[in-house]
Amino acid sequence: MENEVLRAIAQRRSHRAYDARQISCKQLDALMEAALSAPSANNFQPWHYTVVQDQGLLNRVHRAAEAAAMLRDREDRSPRYDSEGFQIFYHAPTVFFISAPESRSYAPIDCGIAAQTLALAAQSMGLGSVILGMPRDAFTGREGKALEKLLRFPEGYSFVIAVAIGYPTDDKPAHERKPGTITILTEKENQEA
Ligand SMILES: Cc1cc2nc3c(=O)[nH]c(=O)nc-3n(C[C@H](O)[C@H](O)[C@H](O)COP(=O)(O)O)c2cc1C
Repeated sequence: MENEVLRAIAQRRSHRAYDARQISCKQLDALMEAALSAPSANNFQPWHYTVVQDQGLLNRVHRAAEAAAMLRDREDRSPRYDSEGFQIFYHAPTVFFISAPESRSYAPIDCGIAAQTLALAAQSMGLGSVILGMPRDAFTGREGKALEKLLRFPEGYSFVIAVAIGYPTDDKPAHERKPGTITILTEKENQEA
């Protein structure tokens, strides 16, 4: 079966190189609309979206995350830090930071769904994206509280996930699928078991 949604799902990749060209205001509006349309447990909408289009601020978050990661053993941090010129946002021109109250048990799931909603919306507009957990280190390190303030996380909200978006310059095949990750149970098979 084929349709626009299935095509966007099939063609989405995590892009790790971007053009400096900024996305348009129209695209940003559509992305924000998509993010706000995501489903959430009890329709609580636990998220706060901070959209950053400021490379200075993104570099500051990167440096804080890197400093925190470097305090750990090499095996406990991403090997990406060893690559020359690595930046956790891959120099994407727009990054959505999604924060939520820690007290909401479904918030990480809700924010994950919101992140994928953003990724698919970006894909449908000819943009690329990558969902990012690595910025979390920036908020657990020495500068964490100051960065939460700079990024205007509401009081009591913590970083959950980020999504970097822009015009990708890399080309990537679809990821290999782990086998054995689907079980289908029909009435017939259950009766035979
Ligand atoms: C919750 C989550 C966190 C992720 N964090 C990062 C990250 O910090 N940096 C990164 O380069 N990719 C990150 N990714 C992207 C994954 O590495 C990627 O989805 C996976 O390798 C499959 O590749 P694909 O997205 O191209 O299908 C993350 C993905 C998810 C769902």
